[in-house]
Order: sequence, then C-alpha cells, then structure tokens
Amino acid sequence: MRAVKMKLKVRAIMSLLCVTTICVSWRGYTSYSLPQDESPCACERCISEDDPWFMQRFNKSVEPFLSADHNLSEDTFNWWKGLQGEKGNLSTFRATVDRLFLMVPPIPDVLESRPDRCRTCAVVGNSGNLRRARYGPLIDFHDIIIRMNEGQTKGFEADVGTRTTHRIMYPESSVESIENTTHLVLAPFKTIDFVWLMEALTTRFKEMPEWIVRREMKANKYLVMILNPAFMRYVHYMWLEKKGYYPSTGFLALVLSLHICDEVSVFGYGADSDGNWSHYWQQLANKKIKTGSHPGKTEYSIIQELDEQHKVKFYKGF
Ligand code: C5P
Repeated sequence: MRAVKMKLKVRAIMSLLCVTTICVSWRGYTSYSLPQDESPCACERCISEDDPWFMQRFNKSVEPFLSADHNLSEDTFNWWKGLQGEKGNLSTFRATVDRLFLMVPPIPDVLESRPDRCRTCAVVGNSGNLRRARYGPLIDFHDIIIRMNEGQTKGFEADVGTRTTHRIMYPESSVESIENTTHLVLAPFKTIDFVWLMEALTTRFKEMPEWIVRREMKANKYLVMILNPAFMRYVHYMWLEKKGYYPSTGFLALVLSLHICDEVSVFGYGADSDGNWSHYWQQLANKKIKTGSHPGKTEYSIIQELDEQHKVKFYKGF
C-alpha cells in the first residue's frame, strides 16, 4: 500500500514538472516570437526597422538624456572637455550635475515606444529656406516639435508653425523665455552651463561670474532635460565619423529625433547659396560665417541619405 502511494506521488510530481516545463518553454517561445510579428510602433513605417546603412550608425542603447544616476565615463568626459575648453575635472562635473538634478526631474520625460503608439516628430532647424515655405500648419500637426536656439515662431507662424514641445539650446544661444509647456533641453558644452541653468531657474545669475553670459532665461524647471555628453560623442563618432569639430545643435536634434520618435519630418536645414547658415528671421550680417566649426556639408548629406532611405521626410524649403 505504502509503495503504491509512493508511486502515485512520484507520478504526480513528474506530471507537474512536465506541465511547468511546457508552460515555461511556451512562454519563452511566445515572448521570443511576438516582437518579430508585431510592428514596434503604430505608424505606417517605424524608424527602428533596420537596414544596413542605418544600423551601422544607429545605436539604440545610447541614452540621449542624462538622468540623476548617470555614470559618465572618464573617456567621454575627456572628449567633451575638448569641445569648448572645459578646465574642470570629472568630479566637479559630477557634483555640479548632482546639484542640478536636485532641481530638475531626475528621470527624463520621454514617451516610450509602444506597438499601439505612433510618435510623430517635426525637427525644425533655423535655415533661411523656411522663409515663405508655408510649412506652419504641417509642422504644427506633429506630436513632438523640436526647435533650437533662437528659432522663433512669433511673426513667422505661416512658415514655421506655432507650437514647440522641445527647445534645445545652450547659454550663448538661449532665448529669454520658454513657454511653460515647452521642454528646455540643455545641450551642455562646459560645466558652467549647468551652473548657468541652475541660476537661471533660481537666483537669476546673482552668483554668476561677470564674464559669463547673463542672458535672462525663464523656463519651467519641471520640464528641463539635459542632453547626454555620451550621446553627443556618439553622434560625432558614429554619424559624422568624427568630421568637423563637433556636431551642430541642429544635427544633435535630428539624431535625437531618431531615438525618441517613430516618424520624423525635417524642416529648416540647409545653407544659403553662399554656403552660410543664414536664419529665416534675419539678414545675415557676417557673410563669412559658413557653417562654423560644424561639418555642414556632411550633416546635410546625411539628412538627404536618411530621406532617401525613408527614415525621415526632408522638407527642403525655398
Ligand atoms: O544657427 P543655429 O545654430 O541657431 O541653427 C540651428 C541649427 O539649424 C544649426 O545647428 C544647423 O544644424 C541648422 N541650420 C541649417 N542651415 C541654416 C541654419 C541652421 O542647417 N541655414
């Protein structure tokens, strides 16, 4: 009797083990097979769909924004230090960024990709080719609208639209005030840029040394985001193959859009007939400015290639 009971117990345990193994294998199979069948986003085409030219450059794992628990490597810091002659060391950088993150959101506010979501983005550079382009309604139609530096909408609504969800800038290129609903995205080039932002959001530059640009700047501190120096380096190395001194704000914005959007429309990129980066809101005073320290031609040809590869839609203006 005892032996029979024992046999039954062993059989029951064996059956249970079998069922568990089948369940685990099935779950493994389905979770492996689902993403292959399902599109990663709800747009007609999703940027993350791969092809060799794109995948040679695009690296999804690079975080576009810093978060409070960032861990910038010495190597990346040393690259970043060279951009605008930073003199400080990595520990001063870390301590300053830690102070900033006591004030602004510690985790960047990014809408994650989802199979049932289509994140459409318009990236709007400042090119003079936007004058009389009449892209305003089209630009405003996007979910996310990224502008940069002093790119303004007032007085140019018909050509460039009215809405701005993200504005990328640094102290020297800043505007006086950003709408309460717009994300300020700081593109940092030196440690004092973080101090500038903290003071702009609090003491209004009372503690800033005299020689630092003291532009007034009002922004909603709950919407601040910080571009990751590791991302800036990735753009320079992988996308620009180290050409030029470093990527322009506009090109950083463009690659950023490939990381946070599913469908990207590009407006306002391209030099004028003399090869200068002129603006849509002003006549160019310095006709020798060209594209500054940035590899303007390479950046432009990459945007064209992205358009040809159907990764972005490039609106070339007038
Ligand atoms: O001149 P600014 O740097 O404010 O312009 C923002 C960005 O727009 C530049 O970094 C550049 O990428 C792009 N731009 C352009 N052609 C222009 C002017 C600006 O491609 N004529």
